[in-house]
Amino acid sequence: MRTVPPRNLLDVDDLSPGEIVSVLDRAVAFRDRLPPRDLLAGVPVLNLFFEASTRTATSFTLAEQRVGADVITFAPGASSLGKGETIADTALTLSGIGVRVIVVRHPESGFARRLADAFDGHVVNAGDGTHAHPTQALLDLMTLRQEFDRFHGLHVAIVGDILHSRVARSNIVGMRALGIDVTLVGPPTLLPHEFAGDGVRVERDLDAVLGRVDAVMMLRIQRERIETGLLPALDDYTRRYQLNRTRLRSLRGDAVILHPGPYNRGIELTDDVLDDPRSRYVAQVRNGVFVRMAVLDLLVNGAPVVAA
Ligand code: CP
Repeated sequence: MRTVPPRNLLDVDDLSPGEIVSVLDRAVAFRDRLPPRDLLAGVPVLNLFFEASTRTATSFTLAEQRVGADVITFAPGASSLGKGETIADTALTLSGIGVRVIVVRHPESGFARRLADAFDGHVVNAGDGTHAHPTQALLDLMTLRQEFDRFHGLHVAIVGDILHSRVARSNIVGMRALGIDVTLVGPPTLLPHEFAGDGVRVERDLDAVLGRVDAVMMLRIQRERIETGLLPALDDYTRRYQLNRTRLRSLRGDAVILHPGPYNRGIELTDDVLDDPRSRYVAQVRNGVFVRMAVLDLLVNGAPVVAA
């Protein structure tokens, strides 16, 4: 195995556009043919989830097992951080034990960076507060490429609570790096105009956007993160921003619907959306396993050697 200096994935911009494509190529190769079991043989990987997760935690664990890592799943509620041990001391301890990769989720934005600054192995951000969720964005990009076989010139709408969404932030970074035009849709309290930028538009009217996009990504209303007063009345929100049977008629026949999960049926979408043939939710979660294998491979083993 080649050795490379420890490298982290804290957000999508830790990867160049070429590396993003390379990770996605690798994920597709793993989808078509499972990687050798010894890809990360004997590499101790610690899953450290301070916040609830179904999709990310499960698919990281499966990805780690598939590449032969020594998987340690640790309940941080039982960790000595709760007894006052600092992140730096925790990182030193884990490094001393022999952990080489930490996959971390934490409710605080920037926690993954703080851990990476203290740890001498690789850190993969599995979601930190409202900041970033890079492997989610990568699996969303893999799903889009599977559908359209290109990125440049695609137009994607991301709808809902953008302000509190680490998924939206990482997707904006990844999509713009690959030439996808992004339209963000939501009410001013959950989507400040400051999100607009190069290739990123802000719209308030979902009905005006739906017919123009190749893909629409619906976001969950994150009640646990929303400060009092920012959330509009739910019936007003659903009237304006819910994807439902009526609005599905506006979406092009060749467009696709994404949702990072978990979804709230009856709020940002209705059952009709999940039953619609354009829904790609299952493809997204399936791709998550392959993308996570590819990310672990890149960080631990380095970029694949390209034949001359
Ligand atoms: N999409 C996502 O991060 O889901 P989990 O919270 O279940 O990991």
